[in-house]
This record gives sequence, structure tokens and C-alpha cells, in this order.
Amino acid sequence: MTDITKAYPLGGSRVEALKGVSLSVKEGEFVSIMGPSGSGKSTLLSITGCLDVPTSGVYLLDGKNVSQLDDDELSLLRNKRIGFIFQAFHLLPRFNALENVELPLIYRGTPKDEREKIAKTCLEQVGLIHRIGHAPSELSGGEQQRVAIARALVNSPRLILADEPTGNLDSTSAEEVMDILCRLNEERKITVVIITHNRGVAERTKRVYHLKDGQIVDEDK
Ligand SMILES: Nc1ncnc2c1ncn2[C@@H]1O[C@H](COP(=O)(O)OP(=O)(O)OP(=O)(O)O)[C@@H](O)[C@H]1O
Ligand SMILES: [Mg+2]
Repeated sequence: MTDITKAYPLGGSRVEALKGVSLSVKEGEFVSIMGPSGSGKSTLLSITGCLDVPTSGVYLLDGKNVSQLDDDELSLLRNKRIGFIFQAFHLLPRFNALENVELPLIYRGTPKDEREKIAKTCLEQVGLIHRIGHAPSELSGGEQQRVAIARALVNSPRLILADEPTGNLDSTSAEEVMDILCRLNEERKITVVIITHNRGVAERTKRVYHLKDGQIVDEDK
């Protein structure tokens, strides 16, 4: 992406959340974004994941200029290529682990048998096949986040975007979540971009972008 800006209208004025961000993530990379609260990290991740569009600038995803796509094309791109993970897990409380993971496939119209098979494979990959019948309230925070990772995997994404995935976890569960993300990156060559406040988490990624006041101020390799 080149010279990306994002302004939110606020009352009569505007908040400039991003003020000309240029960065490039190659396929198969594992990159983290750090920065103080309000520096624009989540805004940047939303744009990266096509959940939001920039006010100006050029964003190429897989060589396609995202700003030229309409809403349908954007949602197709998201569903097919991108998996999202959030700090607060976002699991549906009334559904068990298996059903939560199946959900994106229900939206896609995948038949029940196939849905279950794919969801179970994904839960196996995060080490939770023994918890498929548990509701989110019957799972630890780390387990809930692993269910959320499994849910992000059902569409075979090439890109995983995670907004503080370890923010609500104790250090052991955080390690487990990072182990899984590292493995997905190394073994399946999935590109991973992760926001974190935790230096130890950032150190496990290959490159760190530092964001401040809507601008990249530093890059560690
Ligand atoms: N929908 C919105 N409308 C108006 N202003 C917004 C909106 N979303 C974000 N902002 C503003 O944009 C700036 C960047 O917000 P953003 O959520 O990207 O920060 P962040 O780096 O993710 O912070 P945190 O670490 O607290 O999650 C903030 O000043 C915020 O108040
Ligand atoms: Mg944020």
C-alpha cells in the first residue's frame, strides 16, 4: 500500500487516523504492527482486510487495486482469501465450538456433512478436537481464541489478520496462540499480520512496523 490516509468525520471536524502509510507485505511473510493506543493500528488492519476503504492512497492486494472494487467484489475477496482474529474472540455464545467454526461455511452454503468435516479438520489443527461440543463459556480464553483461529481457517485463507489476538490471554495461552500462528505461517505459508502491544509477541514475527499518530515511524527486521 502506498500513501494510505484514512479520515473519519467526527462532528464538524475530522479525525485523521492514518496520515500517509506506505508498507508492503509479501506473500508468506509474518509481520507485526506495534504502536500506542489510537495510533491507527486497527484502522490499518481494517483497510488491509478490505473491511474498510482508505480515504486516499493506493492499496494493491494480490496485485489488484482494491479501491476499484465494489462491495460485492470486496466481500468475495474477504471470504475467499482472508481470515480475521480479534482480541475478544467474537464467538457466538449459544453455539458450540464445532458450530462456531462451521458458521462461515453455512454462509457459503456448504452442505452439512462437508461443513462438519472441514470444521473438525480445522479444530484438529488448533488441538481442540476433544472440545468440539463445548460452548464458549465452557472453554478457557486460550481455547476460545483457538476456536476463533479454527473458524478463520475454514475458508483456507492465504492471509490471516489478527488484532491483538493475545491481548486477553495469560502468557501460557498467548504462547500457544503464537505457536499456532507461527506454524500456519511456516508450514502452510499463510501470510500473517498481527497487531500487538507485547514485545515478546512481536519478536516472534519476522518484521515489526511501529505506528505513531497515523504514520509508520520505524521498522525492525
Ligand atoms: N469509526 C471511527 N470514527 C471516528 N474515529 C475513529 C473511528 N475509528 C477509529 N477512530 C479514531 O482513529 C484513531 C485511530 O484508531 P484505531 O482504532 O485505529 O487505533 P489503535 O491503534 O487500534 O488503538 P488501540 O491500541 O487502542 O486499539 C483514533 O484516534 C480513533 O479515535
Ligand atoms: Mg485497535
